[in-house]
Amino acid sequence: MRHLMSPMDFSVEELDKLLKLANDIEQNPGKYAHACTGKKLATCFYEPSTRTRLSFEAAMLNLGGSVLGFSSADSSSASKGESVSDTIRVISCYADICAMRHPKEGAPLVASQKSTIPVINAGDGGHQHPTQTLTDLLTIYSLKGKLGGLTIGLCGDLKFGRTVHSLIHALIRYPDIRFVLISPEELRVPSYIREDVLNKNQISYKEVERLEDAMADLDILYMTRVQRERFFNEEDYVRMKDFYILDKSKMALAPKEMLVLHPLPRVNEISVEVDEDPRAAYFKQAQYGVYVRMALILTLLEVEVC
Ligand code: CP
Repeated sequence: MRHLMSPMDFSVEELDKLLKLANDIEQNPGKYAHACTGKKLATCFYEPSTRTRLSFEAAMLNLGGSVLGFSSADSSSASKGESVSDTIRVISCYADICAMRHPKEGAPLVASQKSTIPVINAGDGGHQHPTQTLTDLLTIYSLKGKLGGLTIGLCGDLKFGRTVHSLIHALIRYPDIRFVLISPEELRVPSYIREDVLNKNQISYKEVERLEDAMADLDILYMTRVQRERFFNEEDYVRMKDFYILDKSKMALAPKEMLVLHPLPRVNEISVEVDEDPRAAYFKQAQYGVYVRMALILTLLEVEVC
C-alpha cells in the first residue's frame, strides 16, 4: 500500500507515467467512467478548501466511485478532542482511500502510519501540497510539452507558500531548470529550501524583489497569494498583501509564450484584467487538477484500465 506525502514519493519515471495517464483521462474520459465503481474516497479536511477537496470529489465521482467526509475540524469529532491517529483508524473502516488536509505540518504523515488505506496529503500547514504540485506539473507538461529546460519565476509568499516548496522539490529533478525567486525580504523561501534543496543540488536560481526585473526571462510565472492564515499578526499581513499585483502593464514585459500559473485562490495578486490574456493558464490549471487526481486515485488503488 502506498501513500502520497510529498511529490518526491514518486520517482521521475512514476511521475511520467502518472502524467501520461492524466493526459489519457483528459482525452478519453469515458474509458475511466466506471474504473472505481464500488470504491469510496474520504475527504478529511481540517482546513478550508475549494479546489483540492472538490476536485478530489469530482475525480472519484468521474471514476464511478463515491465520496464521504468532512470539510472542517468543527464538523468532525476533532472538535471533541479526537486525534488524527484515531480518526484515520475509523475512516479506514469506511473508505478505500483518504485525502487529508490539516493545518499541522506532518499530520497526514502521522495518519498514514496508522492507516490501513492509502492516505494522500492534501496540504499540511506551510509544509507540502503534493497534489497541487502534480497539478502544476501536468499543466506545465500539457501546455509546454516538457518539464525541463525552463526558467520558472515563483512570486509572492515564498516563505509560507507550501505549493512553492513542493514545486521546487519536484522540478529540480528535471534537467536545466532555473528559478527566479521573486519576493520581499520577509517572505523569501525558507533557508532549508535554499541550502538543502537548491544549493545542495547546484540548481541555478536568483532572488529578486521587483517582478518587473524578472518578467522578460520567464517561461512560467507562478504567482502565489500572501498566506494570511500563517501570519502571526494582522499588521504584517496587511503590509505585505498587495506587494505584488500582476496587471496588463507588467504582462507587457513578458515573453509571448510565457504562462501565468497560480494555485488559487487569488486575492489581489493577479488583476482580473489578466484573465483574458491567452497566457493566463490558472483556471485551466484548476481543471488539470481533476485529471491528475483521477490518475492518482487509480494509481494508489492499483486500478488498471485497459
Ligand atoms: N490550490 C488549493 O489548494 O486551493 P484550495 O485551498 O481551494 O484547495
